[in-house]
This record gives sequence, C-alpha cells and structure tokens, in this order.
Amino acid sequence: MVRETSLSVNDFIYPLFVTFGRNVRKEISSMPGCFQESVDRIVKHAKEVYSLGIPAVILFGIPERKDEMGSSAFDPHGEVQKAIRTIKDKVPGLYVITDVCMCEYTSHGHCGVIVAGDVKNDPTLELLAREAVSHAEAGADMVAPSDMMDGRVESIRLSLDESGFSEIPIMSYAAKYASAFYGPFREAAESTPQFGDRRSYQMDPANRREALKEVMLDIDEGADIVMVKPAMTYLDIISDVRAHTDMPVAAYNVSGEYSMVKAAARLGWIDEERVMMEVLTSIKRAGADLILTYFAKDAAKVLNR
Ligand code: PBG
Repeated sequence: MVRETSLSVNDFIYPLFVTFGRNVRKEISSMPGCFQESVDRIVKHAKEVYSLGIPAVILFGIPERKDEMGSSAFDPHGEVQKAIRTIKDKVPGLYVITDVCMCEYTSHGHCGVIVAGDVKNDPTLELLAREAVSHAEAGADMVAPSDMMDGRVESIRLSLDESGFSEIPIMSYAAKYASAFYGPFREAAESTPQFGDRRSYQMDPANRREALKEVMLDIDEGADIVMVKPAMTYLDIISDVRAHTDMPVAAYNVSGEYSMVKAAARLGWIDEERVMMEVLTSIKRAGADLILTYFAKDAAKVLNR
C-alpha cells in the first residue's frame, strides 16, 4: 500500500523488426528472444503481444535494398508499410508506432544524407518527412523520429498536417545519446555505420543540461511525447525531463541493456526476472510514463500472473 511506483503492462511499447521475404523468423544472436521477421510472421507475433495486454509496438524495417538516399524508407510497398497495413487489419486494437530514421535504409548506415563525407542535416529533413507521411498513409497510429537531425519534428509535423494527418502524434527521440549500448540493435537492424560514428548528430553522454535543450526544442516544434534514450544509464536525464516538462515522457530501455541482463542470466550470475523488474521499475521511478523495452513480453507475463 505504501509502494510509490507501480509498473503496469500499459506502460510498455514492444519493438518488432520487420524483414523481407516469407516465413522468416530469425533470432538475433545478441538479443535472445528477439527476432527479425517477415510480415506474415510479424502479424502472429503482434497477436501474441496484444494478447499479453501490451498496448503498443514500434516497428523497425530491414529492407531488401539499401541505397545512398535510403529510398526504401518511403516506398509504399516497403516492409514496414506492409507490416503496418497487415497488423492494423488483423490486430486493429494494437497501437502501431513506427521508427522514422534513414539508417536502416541507407547503404552507408548513417541516419541522414551524406554530402562530401558528412551527414547533412537539412537535406535529410525532407526524406524523414516523406518517410513519416508514408507510414501514416499505410495506417500508422504514431511516428517516432530517431535520427536526431535538428528541425525534424517541425518538418515532419508540417508534412503530416499538409497530407491530412494532423491527428497523428509524434513521439520524438528527443534526448538520444551517442551510446555504445545500441550495439546489438545494429546487428538486429543491420544499420551499423559503414564509416565514422553518430557523434555529429547524437548527444555526448557527458552532457546533462543539453538534454533539456533538445527536449524543449522538440516540444516547441510539436512533439507530443518526448523520449530519453538509453534509459538505465540515463535515469538522471529522465528525472530532469520529468521535472521540467508536463509532456508524457518515454524512455528506451535499449538493446545493450537487454543483452547484458540476458547474458548475465545465462551465466547464472543474476536472477533474470528480479533484475528485469528492478530495471523497469527504476525507469518508471525516475519519471518515465512509457517504456520501450525488449522485456515487454517477459515483464507482462510476470505482471499478469
Ligand atoms: C535508429 C535507431 C537506433 C536505435 C533505435 N533507433 C540505433 C542507432 O541510433 O544507432 C537503438 C535501439 C536499441 O539499441 O535498442 N537510429
């Protein structure tokens, strides 16, 4: 009765990786229990997620073809677009969010357009806006830009409005750090940069005040939910954002955070279930309303028991 923080299945957003082909379900070796799946298999998985009471999924795409501009990102017949349509058709109650970024679709693996060896901010905005509109056209309930280009929330908001999607909200990855904890995800999404790193557009892990600046800019540009990413090693940032805004706050319990728990548990070094629940509770305690986590299904089973 005096417990201050309670975790609920309603807090979770479960990430799914959509790949091309048929009847594909390939486990991601560094993320046990997570899969790259073709559209037919994703739908089955989405049903399972929904039946556990998890309200939302976020989709990441692994396209068949990658090019310099990442043009499959806004292909109406792209894997993510197909997955959105099929999930909304077969599991209409499940809320479908899409990750909006170029890195899974570009041959160089960067989140934006490359000019003279560098990621260029402004030319990328138009591509992100096209990608977001294409997801909305396919039936996405919300878009979540994760690229960290400046001005992308505004550019996506304007394009969605102009295309008749003024009701589609934006969850922005507002304070996203240049983190080594994304390592396993890059295997999962096949999005490792082919040269350099993401430090020119993602944040320096040493900076705390800058996170609030990034969050405020995104709110001014029209973000409806602001996200902090990663979560476990950035609880101070989640707490700051909670204290300084009235917006819903999301936190991304990222791939490396998941893999570390799974690995230590496999070695018998920690109690997986207790550590998982403690990690998720700490993220909620710090101030997150929503948690994007690969643990969503495992934690839902514990909470539903
Ligand atoms: C795409 C994106 C990344 C993640 C979510 N969206 C990778 C990155 O920025 O390199 C990471 C998610 C995770 O590690 O679980 N930009």
